[in-house]
Amino acid sequence: MKRIAILGAGFIAGVHLEAWKRIEGAQVVAFFETQPERAQDFQEKQGIPHYDSFSRLLEEKEVEIVDICLPTFLHREYAEIAAQAKKHLFCEKPIATTLEDAQAIKEICSKNGVKLMIGHVLRFWNEYVKAREIVKEGTLGEILSLSAHRLSVAPTWSQNHWILNPNLSGGASVDLHIHDLDFANWLLGKPQKIFASGNRSNKGAIDHIVSNLSYGPNTFSQIEGGWMMKGDFPFSCGFRILGTKGVLEWDFRAGVNIEQRGKGAPLVLYQEDKTKEELYLPGEDPYYQELKYFFNCLEEGRKIESATADQAILALKVALKAQQSIKEEKVLELDS
Ligand SMILES: NC(=O)c1ccc[n+]([C@@H]2O[C@H](COP(=O)([O-])OP(=O)(O)OC[C@H]3O[C@@H](n4cnc5c(N)ncnc54)[C@H](O)[C@@H]3O)[C@@H](O)[C@H]2O)c1
Repeated sequence: MKRIAILGAGFIAGVHLEAWKRIEGAQVVAFFETQPERAQDFQEKQGIPHYDSFSRLLEEKEVEIVDICLPTFLHREYAEIAAQAKKHLFCEKPIATTLEDAQAIKEICSKNGVKLMIGHVLRFWNEYVKAREIVKEGTLGEILSLSAHRLSVAPTWSQNHWILNPNLSGGASVDLHIHDLDFANWLLGKPQKIFASGNRSNKGAIDHIVSNLSYGPNTFSQIEGGWMMKGDFPFSCGFRILGTKGVLEWDFRAGVNIEQRGKGAPLVLYQEDKTKEELYLPGEDPYYQELKYFFNCLEEGRKIESATADQAILALKVALKAQQSIKEEKVLELDS
């Protein structure tokens, strides 16, 4: 049995709590939330003890795991407290809004001997997992290009609209786009060059972005992301992977937010010999799958190899470099 404290009672905290409930041997024993109405709602719905002070929670409750579901600008502050208290950490993506904070989170966890995993959930999302498997098996031949997208209307639920403030969330070009940048890294490795274009919101955030990444002379990706869609535009994501022997495509449209993620669309594989295969994958909740993986790693004393701090730092580095490319209107080397 491992006891968990969830930090935050917002959108993703609710998703995590439902996932934790399904994991045998895991028990959420308390949550931390500073906003009284949100705390009351969460407590009434979930019946879990509430704390408005994280240090008091740590004094009064025995927990082995802290699950950080707070706004991104708070990740470092709470990760440091949790790691110093020797708690294993699951922290939502993006790991932080700056590389300095991200590195500090990684270092404090390693200094205190606690495990750290970041919520890069596409690594546990069946269609993305299967796509990578198909690529690694060589079915598509050599990969020439990846195109991926993630588009929605602006999130309305965030506390005090912190998510729309570029200094607090990084904007959609960090917060949302980072999912697909991490997927591209997972599939194709570290990009060498980046050129991006973007549009800003009236708050100055780059909230719509197209990042062009190159991985060598013959492989590139084009990733589009943003939350500047209008009206009833449905949450949409997907990818097309072109190889020398085939194409794999997935095109998914959910409700206005991501809540209808269970409704699947098939992966479609087109091969050179003109065969077309549609693969419908089980609609298992990827948030459950990532937390279960984290939990199993702790229970079995296994190293965390997926959604690690280093992978999260690389994804953040690419996202920040894309922002820099927009500001400077230049092609940039990732390591420059
Ligand atoms: N993996 C995913 O698909 C996914 C989806 C959504 C959000 N996220 C990430 O999860 C984290 C939380 O996002 P969310 O959408 O749940 O946000 P949210 O605003 O819905 O929830 C954040 C909670 O933290 C609380 N909080 C505590 N201290 C606060 C402070 N000083 N300022 C503002 N809020 C404070 C808020 O009251 C709120 O209940 C972010 O890092 C976000 O990027 C990940």
